[in-house]
Amino acid sequence: MKIIDLRSDTVTLPTPAMREAINAVDLGDDVYGEDPETNLLQEMAADMVGKEAALLVPSGTMGNLACVLTHCGRGEEVILGHRSHTFLNEAGGISALGGIPIHTVPNQEDGAILLEDIEAAIRAKNIHFPRTRLICLENTHNRCSGSPLSPEYTDSVAALAGRHGIKVHLDGARVFNAAVALGVDVKELTRSVDSLIFCLSKGLAAPIGSVICGTREFISEALRTRKLLGGGMRQTGIIAAAGVVALREMVSRLKEDHDNARNLAEGIARIPGLSVEGQWVKTNIVYFYLVSERLTADEFITRAAARGVRFLPTGPSRFRMVTHYGIVPEDIAETIEILSRVMKEK
Ligand SMILES: Cc1ncc(COP(=O)(O)O)c(C=O)c1O
Repeated sequence: MKIIDLRSDTVTLPTPAMREAINAVDLGDDVYGEDPETNLLQEMAADMVGKEAALLVPSGTMGNLACVLTHCGRGEEVILGHRSHTFLNEAGGISALGGIPIHTVPNQEDGAILLEDIEAAIRAKNIHFPRTRLICLENTHNRCSGSPLSPEYTDSVAALAGRHGIKVHLDGARVFNAAVALGVDVKELTRSVDSLIFCLSKGLAAPIGSVICGTREFISEALRTRKLLGGGMRQTGIIAAAGVVALREMVSRLKEDHDNARNLAEGIARIPGLSVEGQWVKTNIVYFYLVSERLTADEFITRAAARGVRFLPTGPSRFRMVTHYGIVPEDIAETIEILSRVMKEK
């Protein structure tokens, strides 16, 4: 039976071109800065997002952690959306390992944080208060329907932060999805932030890796933080070779994932007993609800999986499907067909 795996865009397997590149790559020791492919990947990444320098890390989680630890000292506070990945899904690492308190503020449905909420969260100078050092944004916003944040919004947060002497970090795990969805150069989404990460191993389909980008000075500090976290790796050309292919070949095809996700959302919305979150799906993530009481959430997931469709529960009756490389329009049609059948079953 064919499995249509819509749990995440992290399940993507490397493309044939990536496998060839991995086989052919020249290697060196990256802790000595001597892995040529890693150096190439880092230059390409920095250039694409309009920053001075970049640094390969094993994962998005380590990337966000290394950036926050580089910006903040112990006891210095970070403002984070209450639905952000760094707050919810990174094991509290910035607090546990960095002694960095998190000040949560509400994410709106589109992933944005209201400027007035940020302003209100910034601490006044007072010996009783932690110092606010950093604001983090997430683009696209995973938990908020995969929504993209606009360049204008990002700039307005950066301007506010600048007025208060605070830095801005962007969790851009899927920032290329945001750029494609908005029809803008990714640089427009990154121009005003002080640091960002993006992931090679999600929609871009590389098997491993994320990249931190920022000023040369920030990256040389982040290099030290990466070492502290045990993220200094050796013959990373194996990872970088796939990453270079990802940046060269996989960004422009993200539109296919977005088209598939929109068709999927429209199909699910037509099935009695299911309802799609948000009025529109702009990127590759679809959240939906089971609103019928004919079956439980567990039964729904198990029956769909038995017919070959896999997806994740993200709440009592809330589910997530993510489209990605390897998922084609026929899979979308089949998924809709299978979900309709599951909803009609006794
Ligand atoms: C928005 C966002 N940030 C960061 C991460 C962490 O990436 P990784 O799984 O590579 O640690 C994820 C992973 O799904 C994510 O969705």
